Amino acid sequence: MRKNILITGASSGLGEGMAREFAAKGCNLALCARRMEPMETLKAELEAAYPNIKVFIRELDVCNYPQVFDVFKAFKEDMGSLDRVIVNAGMGKGASLGKGYFEANRRTAETNFVGALAQCEAAMEIFRAQNSGHLVTMSSMSAVRGMPRAINIYAATKAGLRTLTEGIRADLLGTPIKASCILPGFILTAINKDLKKAPLRVDLETGCRALVKAIEREPAEAKVPAWPWVPVGLAMKFLPLRIVAKMT
Ligand SMILES: NC(=O)c1ccc[n+]([C@@H]2O[C@H](COP(=O)([O-])OP(=O)(O)OC[C@H]3O[C@@H](n4cnc5c(N)ncnc54)[C@H](OP(=O)(O)O)[C@@H]3O)[C@@H](O)[C@H]2O)c1
Repeated sequence: MRKNILITGASSGLGEGMAREFAAKGCNLALCARRMEPMETLKAELEAAYPNIKVFIRELDVCNYPQVFDVFKAFKEDMGSLDRVIVNAGMGKGASLGKGYFEANRRTAETNFVGALAQCEAAMEIFRAQNSGHLVTMSSMSAVRGMPRAINIYAATKAGLRTLTEGIRADLLGTPIKASCILPGFILTAINKDLKKAPLRVDLETGCRALVKAIEREPAEAKVPAWPWVPVGLAMKFLPLRIVAKMT
């Protein structure tokens, strides 16, 4: 069992939900995000409910790259080893290109891709030194095709992260270190609560239970929840762009 788990973006949504699921399984947690207050509440709640686990929390902005390396190293010191790192922090601001929203698009690109790259680098440094570990990246079903409007840059970053993870896996062939890329469908969180269309969305608890189950299988890649997203993903790949563009 992977006992010591680091999760970024743990102050809300999927990060918080996965922390609850892993705590219930007896895992120690290293949780980070920019907002400390929700993580302080979560730590108190989880340590009270599961006295046999330890929960460490630290402030982290994943766009502060030196801080990513420092925080991951500090968590490793706290816990002795890191068994799994979940690169989960992300955001979804953006708009169609050429309409004056470069700053929102750039911010999403930097957080979701360069920030994720920094997290993968920092995790891999630790895993290579340990010669063990499981890297998990949170991509998205939107990685399967180009998406219009607000999702355009978001989908592009998630496609980039998916390819990055496959490349890391290619580098790791024949080693004990594992890497998995997770493509969630819509799970209700702050990131999508205001979207006009969020087809087939599931509630947070259902979504996080399915995410943790998929992560524990340590697959190369998983679409979550598998039903209906495996067949939907296949359809998305081959449908004409004008139909895909109407999905969100
Ligand atoms: N919910 C879905 O349907 C869905 C589907 C596919 C993929 N995903 C992916 O799942 C991940 C989690 O999203 P969510 O749905 O749980 O959204 P959320 O509730 O908005 O959570 C996003 C988390 O990322 C953190 N974060 C954002 N920018 C950060 C930064 N610069 N540095 C550090 N932490 C940062 C936030 O914490 P602070 O604001 O406190 O820093 C928060 O904890 C994202 O990567 C998202 O793209 C979600």
